[in-house]
Amino acid sequence: MTTKTPQQSRTIMTDLVLPSETNPLNNLFGGELLARMDRAASIAARRHSRRIVVTASVNHVAFNRAVPLGSVVTVEAKVSRAFKTSMEVFIDVWIEDRESGERTKANEAIYTFVAVDETGRPIAVPQVEPESDLEKERFAAALRRKQLSLLLAGKMKPQDATELKALFE
Ligand SMILES: CC(C)(COP(=O)(O)OP(=O)(O)OC[C@H]1O[C@@H](n2cnc3c(N)ncnc32)[C@H](O)[C@@H]1OP(=O)(O)O)[C@@H](O)C(=O)NCCC(=O)NCCS
Repeated sequence: MTTKTPQQSRTIMTDLVLPSETNPLNNLFGGELLARMDRAASIAARRHSRRIVVTASVNHVAFNRAVPLGSVVTVEAKVSRAFKTSMEVFIDVWIEDRESGERTKANEAIYTFVAVDETGRPIAVPQVEPESDLEKERFAAALRRKQLSLLLAGKMKPQDATELKALFE
């Protein structure tokens, strides 16, 4: 199966924050941002695998900055690493200054998607060949994050989490 670069799955979605999508402080509602990230990430996973994909887990979300009403929000998703049937997707969220057009990183998240066949059974996906330094960094840490996610989901025994054990040795 042909290897693909993160760039080949890159998905960018830009949209406004409307009043119906905000909390009482007039900032973007967290669940709305999670949904936007899920949509962009699922398209990235689909572009990488060219298969039906399902969200298996949300491994990490950091709401570092509030996103005010009226903001232009850009969600950028790329597959950072693929395993057998699962793909880690890294999502960066940017907001754009109205006057200068300058982009500021607001949030980030990491989702795991699984490629499935028409009956919902997991199916193999192409591997990832990272190119930039950041892509290589994210690729290298992905196995550790996969093991942590499986451990938290009760799908892996602590003694099998080799990457996590290595952190404390
Ligand atoms: C995701 C799903 C296909 C996994 O099925 P499963 O029976 O656990 O299948 P497997 O054990 O073969 O796991 C498939 C892959 O998912 C990975 N995986 C499963 N759960 C995971 C988790 N919580 N975190 C990270 N990876 C996970 C496995 O490690 C495996 O990866 P690999 O093949 O790359 O090594 C299945 O749980 C499912 O269909 N869930 C519902 C998905 C859905 O509807 N999402 C939207 C929610 S509204």
